[in-house]
Amino acid sequence: MSDGYLAIARKWRPQTLEEMAGQSHVTRTLGNALASGRLHHAFLFTGARGVGKTTAARAFARSLNCIEGASLQPCGQCAPCKEIPLGTSPDVIEVDGASNNSVEDVRDLRDGIRYLPNAARFKIYIIDEVHMLSKGAFNALLKTLEEPPPHVKFIFATTEANKIPETILSRVQRFDFKRIPQPVVAERLRLICEAEGVQISEGSLRMIARAGEGSMRDSQSLLDQVISFGGMAPAEAQVVDILGLVDRRMLYDMLEGMLGADAPRCLDAIAEVYERGYEIGQFTSELLELVRDAALVALSASAVRHMDAPEEERERLGRVAGGLPAEQLARTFHVLLEVHDQVARASRPRMVLEMAVARLVAIRPAEAVGPLVERLADLERRLRGGGAAPARPRGREPGDDPEGERRG
Ligand SMILES: Nc1ncnc2c1ncn2[C@@H]1O[C@H](COP(=O)(O)OP(=O)(O)OP(=O)(O)O)[C@@H](O)[C@H]1O
Ligand SMILES: [Mg+2]
Ligand SMILES: [Zn+2]
Repeated sequence: MSDGYLAIARKWRPQTLEEMAGQSHVTRTLGNALASGRLHHAFLFTGARGVGKTTAARAFARSLNCIEGASLQPCGQCAPCKEIPLGTSPDVIEVDGASNNSVEDVRDLRDGIRYLPNAARFKIYIIDEVHMLSKGAFNALLKTLEEPPPHVKFIFATTEANKIPETILSRVQRFDFKRIPQPVVAERLRLICEAEGVQISEGSLRMIARAGEGSMRDSQSLLDQVISFGGMAPAEAQVVDILGLVDRRMLYDMLEGMLGADAPRCLDAIAEVYERGYEIGQFTSELLELVRDAALVALSASAVRHMDAPEEERERLGRVAGGLPAEQLARTFHVLLEVHDQVARASRPRMVLEMAVARLVAIRPAEAVGPLVERLADLERRLRGGGAAPARPRGREPGDDPEGERRG
């Protein structure tokens, strides 16, 4: 895979709508339209970056123009099916809205529209980044959108639908592409790795998918990076490094330190974060997420099921937070949330975090108020004459435990 290496995002671009991951609401509706033959003449694909808008536009063009008939499953053999993915079909015209955004550009486009398609059913104009068109260009386009010839279809793609005039929006069928859920991204990456012979753990794939934040392209580019730095069998630790993630161990050191009122452990963790050059802000926000998860575990052990964490981590969280009062975790969360906002603005974020630890460790005795009151009551009873102590929690008589007497 060293020579002639093709970026994963390009090599694995889906060729048909059905191969796309995570946009089933779009493919279903388009599939129904294709099957019924009731096709709108202009479509708008909008949504975040790298979620499949351009991919879907090309795949839909293929579906529309396959010689075997318009279908979600184009034949893959005919001229349009072969040409469209390569960008060589004379009947599918891709226009970059960013660089062809003038009135003249749209007029040229309108001139071309009058001619019938060469070989295929439709003449399809894909205008990418359509929000970049000038006001005049939009106006020129509007005329065409009002009465397009029956052999013409428009597919617009944009990340910024809010920049498109209402007059245009009202004449297109709009599809909102969603961010792709992490498990769906991870699964797609797994299939790709299998096909490419890359040996990588599920945990690593999940980390990559999480870092990709719902963008398939970003996730695939991160996978490229992992492979080019870590080789064909990248270890989890390498993935952590490459993605610039905070080492989970340091997060757990911090969490356990905070919950156990172990200030030195927390301060050591912060020092390590600092020395390793991680951003304190990033560390704090990952810590916040971990505390949130821990709080859920403390509330209900079954909450772990809803967590997007690998099995080992769920177990660890269970051990760390399982028996703790949910109250303590909620308080820890609140302190951290406040700190998180401060850290982002602070010129010396490390100090802010250290002071938060001091605060957390200082407020911790509040947790033990219940048992403390009990012990005081016990003590009081014994001081009153070691007599009847009906509510002693341990169920022993006072005289049984001379050591206890001394401890008081
Ligand atoms: N839903 C998806 N299923 C499978 N692969 C996808 C999906 N979305 C994106 N990809 C992958 O990411 C690459 C980029 O996708 P695409 O160009 O379609 O994104 P886009 O939404 O048009 O992004 P942009 O807004 O940046 O133009 C594709 O080549 C493909 O490999
Ligand atoms: Mg695009
Ligand atoms: Zn075909």
